[in-house]
Amino acid sequence: MIAWDPTLETGIAEIDEQHQLLFRRAGSVLEAVEAGQGAIEVKRTLQFLADYAALHFETEERCMRASRFPDAAAHAEIHQRINRRLMEVAAEFNAHGATARLVADVEALMRGWVTVHIQEKDRALTDWLEANAPRR
Ligand SMILES: [Fe+2]
Repeated sequence: MIAWDPTLETGIAEIDEQHQLLFRRAGSVLEAVEAGQGAIEVKRTLQFLADYAALHFETEERCMRASRFPDAAAHAEIHQRINRRLMEVAAEFNAHGATARLVADVEALMRGWVTVHIQEKDRALTDWLEANAPRR
């Protein structure tokens, strides 16, 4: 099971809340698969996860622009890669259904990509925001 972990906290409330919801939504996808819910429900939760991730990345990218974050381009590129992976996972579900591989891929995506991204890149961004942008 994937879960939010307090070490992922960045200290910026808006970003932390979005990260937490992102993890909850990924959990909903896995629950839907494990509970054997119908394809429509799994598809809906996967779609929500992808849409919500895109919205969250927009928030971060807006903060990067507003504060002139120096590593913005590289950071946004990782967002695009995560978005692409989310779309690939959705396509995988459409093609093969709720397989063990789908569950493993969603878990790997959240554990590997998203967790590492938050710990390393989002931490660097939020440290920069703390120092260079007025606290919200
Ligand atoms: Fe990010």
